[in-house]
Amino acid sequence: MSAIIGTDLAVAADWLRRGELVGLPTETVYGLAGNALDPAAVAKIFHVKQRPAFDPLIMHFPDLAALEPFVTGITPAARQLAERYWPGPLTLVFPRRDVVPDLVTAELDSVAVRVPRHPLALGLLRSVDFPLAAPSANPFGYVSPTRPDHVTRQLGDQIPYVLDGGPTVIGLESTIVSFAGSEPRLLRRGGLALEELEDALGQTLVVNTHSSSNPAAPGMLAQHYSPGVPLALLPELSDEALESKVRTAPEVAFLVFGRPGLADYENVFDLSTAGDLREAAARLFATLRQLDELDFQRIFAELLPERGLGRAVNDRLRRAGA
Ligand code: TXA
Ligand code: MG
Repeated sequence: MSAIIGTDLAVAADWLRRGELVGLPTETVYGLAGNALDPAAVAKIFHVKQRPAFDPLIMHFPDLAALEPFVTGITPAARQLAERYWPGPLTLVFPRRDVVPDLVTAELDSVAVRVPRHPLALGLLRSVDFPLAAPSANPFGYVSPTRPDHVTRQLGDQIPYVLDGGPTVIGLESTIVSFAGSEPRLLRRGGLALEELEDALGQTLVVNTHSSSNPAAPGMLAQHYSPGVPLALLPELSDEALESKVRTAPEVAFLVFGRPGLADYENVFDLSTAGDLREAAARLFATLRQLDELDFQRIFAELLPERGLGRAVNDRLRRAGA
């Protein structure tokens, strides 16, 4: 197989009805989508991604009403988040109903659901009569894709079609909040900032963004999002101290944030010279992929301020460096 990149919703829907997988543009990252109610299609997702079967998938729906038959326990607080942030970069985990295939949830008694905001994703979800299971469209453990060619380069020989929705606007995976326990918990930092969630809920959220030891979010392994080049985190440095490192280590790529004074160095990659957290989030994964293709021996990355999307970017950088 050799994937075609195109914008034809009818073609994408047709492949899905036939049990094939399609590259799905969302506002967060590109997904590897299949019919969530067809166990053979779901099995294909695990196979193509080389994903361990203990790591459950997110089910995608066109709206809140469409997912209600698949879950229970939508509390007033959960409904409030759903109504405020869907469609958008938020995934909610609820107790599941029996109609959800075991393979999708890795046999957990909860299921992750989300309504994405990208118009092509919504269009596709409306044109088929089943929900879409979709993990990020990268081989397991690697950086998530933010452009259609990221998908075709790694998975293009195993899927027939990638819907081209352009570069993703958010660039980080959805934020995951679980309502499957006695209190809401943040399971993954992502494209919706914790501050916004807490503001909507009127309470602070328990943060449980696991590690490999947390069964509540089995996929959030400590080492994930890894580029092929070793990555280490930099301590906080002044412009002068950073510049002297940059100058003396041309074999190292420096992934930095808000350092316009270093723009002339070829080994400096600034996620946002203007110091904009959203711009940095949107550029993170494509920049890591770019660094993978260049000849640097290692990457030194500096952390962003610990607020808003900066915290989600830092989460990915820490895992990439683990
Ligand atoms: O932005 C996104 O969420 C993208 C786009 C394509 O929608 N999808 C995505 O899927 O990031 P994936 O499979 O790469 O990450 C899903 C995460 C995994 O860490 C998985 O362990 C967790 O969601 N998850 C899924 N079901 C769960 C459940 N029932 N309880 C706890 N965590 C769950
Ligand atoms: Mg993923």
